[in-house]
Amino acid sequence: MKLELPRHTERFGSVRIHDIQRVVLLDSAGEGIEVEASVCSIPRSKIQEIERKMAIIIPVKDERLKVIEGVISAIPSECLIIVVSNSKRGKVDRFKMERDMIEQHVHYARRAIWAIHQKDHGVSKAFKEVGYPELLDDNGVIRDGKAEGMIIGMLLAKAAGKEYVGFIDADNYIPGAVHEYVKIYGAAFHLSQSPYAMVRISWAYKPKILEGSLYFSKWGRVSAVTNRYLNKLIASFTGFETEVVKTGNSGEHAMTIRLAEILDYKPRFAIEPYEIVNILEQFGGIVEPKYDEPMEAGVEIFQIETRNPHFHEEKGDQHLKDMLCDALSAIMSSSICPESLKKELQIELLKEGLQPRDNDRTIPSFAHVDAKLFLDLLVEYNAIHMFGYKR
Ligand code: GDP
Ligand code: CO
Repeated sequence: MKLELPRHTERFGSVRIHDIQRVVLLDSAGEGIEVEASVCSIPRSKIQEIERKMAIIIPVKDERLKVIEGVISAIPSECLIIVVSNSKRGKVDRFKMERDMIEQHVHYARRAIWAIHQKDHGVSKAFKEVGYPELLDDNGVIRDGKAEGMIIGMLLAKAAGKEYVGFIDADNYIPGAVHEYVKIYGAAFHLSQSPYAMVRISWAYKPKILEGSLYFSKWGRVSAVTNRYLNKLIASFTGFETEVVKTGNSGEHAMTIRLAEILDYKPRFAIEPYEIVNILEQFGGIVEPKYDEPMEAGVEIFQIETRNPHFHEEKGDQHLKDMLCDALSAIMSSSICPESLKKELQIELLKEGLQPRDNDRTIPSFAHVDAKLFLDLLVEYNAIHMFGYKR
């Protein structure tokens, strides 16, 4: 793959946020990594090196089986896939259907996939026993939410001994786009100077049908608002207006495990924007840092623009409002959000007829959790399904 080098980088304490980089060439040969005329060439063999050390997490809630299967089929075989489902399990057990589909795929594809259901009692039991009860509700069951699913997946990636973790939504209609996301993760980690790195995908276009023809829109409505406020948060400290953040809501993103395990998270759809907020909180140099090493090594955020368009399930107005509410509330509840910005956020939410979720809890980082023990317990309680590969 050939990637543009970032033309602009915003610095905030130990954090470096790189501006959008485009994919110049999807696939390139060669032996080593080369830089020429502000383009970096990362040969496929180098990308594969990362893929062997990467788990791809797919959060699933009641998505169409054919679409999930397309996503799975697009992920390189070197990656361990971890499907974390919160699909309905009534008379029609959707999780059972998902497992059957995975089993069949693995039979032909001969690769490794783990599948787990968020509401399995074995999962909540294991969480209690490893001393990480923050995902559980008052009845001791894991809460609904994409973030909750993603955190289960990250713990499993750590238990599997992976160094990188990437996320891909299950409702992606174009397998070719999914394939590109994973290749981008692998390529971008080679650009990083630090073991604390994050890669976020920026879609070239999100096609929609408008008056009977295809229209290639650039930004989703929620993304535009979320990005604007994340940029305002940065500007409130640097004193300079910026537009550097363009991937505030990006579900497609990846991290080194070393970064993933020290971040605090916010529930549901707040997780993606809050990752950026928490990176600023922890490593922006505003408050006393908890960890010295990332302060010295620096924390890097890459934003890479795809060649493929992004085509996913349209889930309606209420879903967009929920996402916006989660995202803006997360920025608002940050300890580094200045009062004036809080007021602006409140007005923005009111304009949409939304109340800020100011009592949303923060889910603490999982650095202290014994991930291997967590996995052992899941195996003991039959709460994890391992296809194609036993430990
Ligand atoms: P959007 O793409 O950001 O508009 O949000 P989606 O509704 O498409 O959600 C993103 C991904 O998270 C999809 O693959 C969903 O199936 C999945 N998802 C949504 N809610 C949950 C949940 O409660 N648990 C899990 N494990 N996945 C979820
Ligand atoms: Co979606």
